[in-house]
Amino acid sequence: MTGIESFSSEERSFPPPEPFKDRALVTDLSLHEEADRDWKGFWARQALALDWYDEWDTICDWRLPFARWFDGGTLNASYNCVDRHVAAGNGDRVAYHWEGEPGDTRTITYADLLADVQRFANVLRDLGVRRGDRVAIYMPMIPELPVAMLACTRIGAAHSVVFGGFSSDALRDRIVDAEAKVLVTADGGWRRGAIVPLKANADASLHAAPSIEAVVVVRRTGQELPMQDGRDHWWHDVMASAATECEPERMGSEDLLYLLYTSGTTAKPKGIMHTTGGYLTQVAFTHRYVFDLRPDTDVYWCAADIGWVTGHSYIVYGPLANGATGVLFEGTPDFPERDRWWSIIERYGVTILYTAPTAIRTFMKWGTAEPEKHDLSSLRLLGSVGEPINPEAWMWYRRHVGGDRCPVVDTWWQTETGAILIAPLPGATTLKPGSATFPLPGIAAEVVDDSGQPVQAGGGYLTLTQPWPSMLRGIYGDPERYHQTYWSRFPGRYFAGDGARVDDEGYFWFMGRVDDVMNVSGHRVSTTEVESALVDHPSVAEAATVGASDEITGQAIIAFVTLKGGQEGTPDHGQVLRQHVATRIGAIARPRTIVFTDDLPKTRSGKIMRRLLRDVAEGRALGDVTTLADASVIEEIKKRAAAAPEED
Ligand code: WTA
Repeated sequence: MTGIESFSSEERSFPPPEPFKDRALVTDLSLHEEADRDWKGFWARQALALDWYDEWDTICDWRLPFARWFDGGTLNASYNCVDRHVAAGNGDRVAYHWEGEPGDTRTITYADLLADVQRFANVLRDLGVRRGDRVAIYMPMIPELPVAMLACTRIGAAHSVVFGGFSSDALRDRIVDAEAKVLVTADGGWRRGAIVPLKANADASLHAAPSIEAVVVVRRTGQELPMQDGRDHWWHDVMASAATECEPERMGSEDLLYLLYTSGTTAKPKGIMHTTGGYLTQVAFTHRYVFDLRPDTDVYWCAADIGWVTGHSYIVYGPLANGATGVLFEGTPDFPERDRWWSIIERYGVTILYTAPTAIRTFMKWGTAEPEKHDLSSLRLLGSVGEPINPEAWMWYRRHVGGDRCPVVDTWWQTETGAILIAPLPGATTLKPGSATFPLPGIAAEVVDDSGQPVQAGGGYLTLTQPWPSMLRGIYGDPERYHQTYWSRFPGRYFAGDGARVDDEGYFWFMGRVDDVMNVSGHRVSTTEVESALVDHPSVAEAATVGASDEITGQAIIAFVTLKGGQEGTPDHGQVLRQHVATRIGAIARPRTIVFTDDLPKTRSGKIMRRLLRDVAEGRALGDVTTLADASVIEEIKKRAAAAPEED
């Protein structure tokens, strides 16, 4: 039995447009060929794009599952992200065009960053932070956030950024696990005109987080706050009295750069460990080549939150290591109006946009009139990350945001992989809507079946067969869990937990998390494929499918569907959609039940929580909801599901 069956039949393809290709960094397979000849040598040459104090002795030391990259080499991340650009005469280049949710703006040059990073590094030292310590960061999307991260790296402390939307309990667990010494936060952040009380949340967590010796608070929202004497300090006060210069620490390539917690199957979050030299090498490489970056002319916008790995790698470390100019945005797409993003693109002349399928499908729901209000002609490349992108969402993005002229790069990776592993090189790769295309140069990926045998063409499990520079180095404090989670399912291979298909031209198509795969009459059907068939219907904006027990078929497919433009679904419309899926993929994938809903339950980073939909479909109590962005959504869905008709 093979891993997962595939029914997809996407036939469209898009070679690189000539005007794009004419100016692209890479237009052929030469990088792939170079890496195929000698992958370690290839990565070593990419590492030379960084500034090292001492060069490494060994490129890669691999004792499965533990890799060490560029051992013996020394460097400093903040030096590579900031100082060297200023030294090269680019101090006046904008690092971030920042826009706050209320509409306030700041322009941060590389020279500004250098001044602030040095000062804040001295602040941290004055508060007792030493090389090897951990610092927790719980902040809104304001320029002080990347400054705080870089200041940690400057003095050799590891940061642990906790997304500002997390609760005080989540913050406490992460501080305790990392034994962080200092917490950097803000009085609050703005969200749709309301204050998210970050400092109050932090205070609630600190009762049970004894490792914290000091708290630094940025004034952002301005409300009155209790400040605890001796522990709490205002950012502006400590910055004003700090020394202006701070020599960067010479860090070992394998020294811990940061921890980033990601939720696992059990309640205890995993502290994913990333180290310095390999991580920085690969985020800089992928940022440059996947986005075809021209640092002197591009305005690059990754619309994620820095609290997620996408923000770490592609708002902070990759772009800054490359000396890029970026947009940093604090707000949400619909505040004050649903054209906020398009207005930002027009005003800053954004050339590269990187976002998630969930955002694209939301824009589809809102309609084309919003992007049409603005001149988006500055855009030349679009990117997607975070979930499989349905072909119709890909086409919509290409047409209504990219004006049919911009390549769309679908980029597959994980918190654990640190950097993009599977994605096109937009000047060279012919794109297929919904496919992340091929492993990047220097990356060895294979789809395998249940017994771990490589699948030549067809569906199965995505695995990686050789180490890569930005791979996680483990789970903080738990090497056994690291081995168990990623390296035990298929011996000798890293198992990502994702289903994927390779087509007969070798393209990779992601099919969702394998935990979500549905088993209908003995056929293992991917959530992504049925969802894509639903989104393919012109009335559908977004869909999520789950398997629920069924006496006859083992599992039956239950689909949760959101229609475009706020339409209400009817039972007849449900029939139309069931038939549409049957036509597109076959009767086997026809949902038993269609539940129409205005919204889907999502994590705070925008991933659909099918686990909760399964609970609804099975009529049982909801599991852990701590990562759910909006709890009211699932309550509404429960009511609708109870009323939805079942078909045979
Ligand atoms: C999913 C986000 C399909 C996948 C960078 C992965 C994707 C998980 C894609 C990691 C993509 C991310 N196509 N699926 N382009 N990108 N995923 O840790 O299931 O938040 O394992 O990292 O997101 O999510 P994480």
